[in-house]
Amino acid sequence: MDGSIGTPVVRRDAAAKATGAARYAADFHQAGTAYAALTTSTVARGRITRIDSAAAEAVPGVQMVLTHQGLNEPLDAATLAEDGFIMTGGHFQSSFNPLSSAEIMYAGQIVGLTVADTQEAAEEAARKLSVDYEAVEAHASIEDEGLEEKPSEKHSLDVGDAPAAFARAPVKVDQTYMTAPQHHNPIELYATTASWNDGKLTLYVPSQWVIGKRAGIAKVFGMAPEDVHIINPYIGGGFGSKASILWHTVLVAIAARRLGRPVKLVVPRSHMFTVGSFRPATRQHIALAAERDGTLQALIHEEWGQTGRTDDVVFPGVTVTPHMYACPNIRVRETMLVTDVNTPGFMRAPNETPSFFAFESAVDELAVALDMDPVALRLKNEPTRDPVKGVPYSSRSLVQCYERGMELFGWDRRTPAPGSMKDVNGALLGWGCATATYPCSKVPALARATIAMDGRLTVGAAAHDLGTGTYTILAQIAADALGTEVGQVQVQLGDSDLPSSTVAGGSVTAGNAGSAVQMACHAVREKLLALAAAGPFMGFGAGQLKVAGGRVLGPDGSSKSIAEVMDASATGIVEATAEWAPKDFASEQVRDSLKGGMAMAGPVTETHAMFSFGALFTEVRIDPLTPTVRVPRMVGVFAAGTILNPRTARSNLAGGMVWGVGHALMEATEIDRKRASFANTDLATYHVASCADVRDVTVEMLDETDTEVNALGAKAVGELGIVGMAAAIGNAVYHATGRRLRKLPMLVDDLL
Ligand code: MOS
Repeated sequence: MDGSIGTPVVRRDAAAKATGAARYAADFHQAGTAYAALTTSTVARGRITRIDSAAAEAVPGVQMVLTHQGLNEPLDAATLAEDGFIMTGGHFQSSFNPLSSAEIMYAGQIVGLTVADTQEAAEEAARKLSVDYEAVEAHASIEDEGLEEKPSEKHSLDVGDAPAAFARAPVKVDQTYMTAPQHHNPIELYATTASWNDGKLTLYVPSQWVIGKRAGIAKVFGMAPEDVHIINPYIGGGFGSKASILWHTVLVAIAARRLGRPVKLVVPRSHMFTVGSFRPATRQHIALAAERDGTLQALIHEEWGQTGRTDDVVFPGVTVTPHMYACPNIRVRETMLVTDVNTPGFMRAPNETPSFFAFESAVDELAVALDMDPVALRLKNEPTRDPVKGVPYSSRSLVQCYERGMELFGWDRRTPAPGSMKDVNGALLGWGCATATYPCSKVPALARATIAMDGRLTVGAAAHDLGTGTYTILAQIAADALGTEVGQVQVQLGDSDLPSSTVAGGSVTAGNAGSAVQMACHAVREKLLALAAAGPFMGFGAGQLKVAGGRVLGPDGSSKSIAEVMDASATGIVEATAEWAPKDFASEQVRDSLKGGMAMAGPVTETHAMFSFGALFTEVRIDPLTPTVRVPRMVGVFAAGTILNPRTARSNLAGGMVWGVGHALMEATEIDRKRASFANTDLATYHVASCADVRDVTVEMLDETDTEVNALGAKAVGELGIVGMAAAIGNAVYHATGRRLRKLPMLVDDLL
């Protein structure tokens, strides 16, 4: 049927977004709203010695100046210190409340929230809030000397004896790679509107996890979760930055309660760099060794990742690399480097994006050392079972991805010697490849399906559409399950009062929230058929009836519209809520997860290793004089189980590849090492790939069946396309120039 699973349905929210009808968090307006602005710290470490708010309070229209001196809010600080942080089971981007004391932990820390009748007055007051600091030496760069190191023992892994195998093997690579800090910069700014009614709190806040935010906000204010309502139907990009509660949301809620009126804060771009999270910098050591025929013998991956001073942040890229190639000897280690920065956080494929730059560059270096084609080296070491646990992959079509990718790209025309290929104008050409992967996880989720009197179907879940097409694919799943037109289905998302669903993170929404929607639709179909059997199809059993084309069909060829069947319903609706509870979860884990606990099974369970895969090919063109790197052509072939909608999936994968171009060649948050602060906190100087940087993008998705990952067989897509792209480009740069760049971003200066 048109619009069912696997068809390229156009994004149903496209028109609303293009015309401005879609309302983002900051677009909701309530009468009597006051406006807020932030004052942030100009020093990176030390303490506030004096705050003078007289001039700020004197600005006409100012209602409140909130600083650490006047916070006095009975927040459950002990709870937060224990488990407030999202990476340790809580829901906050950081356990550190920036207004909790005079202490300054990082540049750009919130030191004041001003609230006024107008935005202009709030901003003027924010500028006039006078703060004196006593600063001490601070370090924001992982390249600074003498940083504290904290090993993350639980990510250590040894299979066989990698150092001994490395020492023995005839061909080896042993290198260090660096990646820069980056900021997510979704186009929709962070924002919060808070209003209180009868002790209940409503928050309009960009959210990749409405159930998690509800749980965390309820906890910090000592409220019942039912008394907190998070509303956020549309998200203007998140990339991980909107999964956790940012502290300004709490401060705005406090201000709204004290003032007895709604308060709205829209965080300006420059503050986005420090009041939220970012992708931390890494240093990675990779050592690979092989027999002369390319058989991998040893894999050593050690990563040092940047964290802040207030929370232990670990994005263990080393947890993914051991699952990529057959290798009998593996050693991985993960260490945190403590710096004076705001707490880093999730940013699109947080573990894999930096890790695969290093790892897939090293694999290319090994191919060069072996004088072997880099695709052939990868295919030579394709595992049949997971090298760590010995379990089978739930599905793994990486070889097919490479074979199809080589064909699409024309890889057989590549001459291996560096600098051996030129375009008609004499520019150097380089062709590179790399593997993409993303782990697949199972997460419990609920969904509700409702059939109304007129036959219309509504599905609802507290899941999210980041702009990637969730509204559309859930409508397709529902239409498919009930044999109706996709246009007949309404989808409700982004509201914590809907049935509890998953975080929009870890690329789990489509497969897991989608499975719950499918189950709810099947359940409501059973109810509808029971109603039909008790009413217009009296005499038939429900099992003899079918739903198709918006009608209920009897075995004798008779049919009734859903509306006619619904006439027999006493309540006017037929409704069912269903739970997708993967068998890997105990029932109490499911319950905890549905209340906002972060529980994921995977990517490697007791029975299977579950990953999406892809093969990336890039062409770079380098002007020998300037020497600017261009990426005129890229090909990505992916296998991610059931592709629910090839249009939205393609867009997601191509978006990841485009971001990879920026990741490789442009994107970095520059650090002012003297001030220990971020220097380029605007979109004029923070460079990302845009239209002129990208030309020919080919994305193909292979057919793949996976019966293990979830009820739909849909594997991770959202974060897959970016992983490995920087390596594919770096490998092409090497092929063009003979220069191996081991530091991101790769700039013109590095090639001069
Ligand atoms: Mo993604 S960084 O898991 O939102």
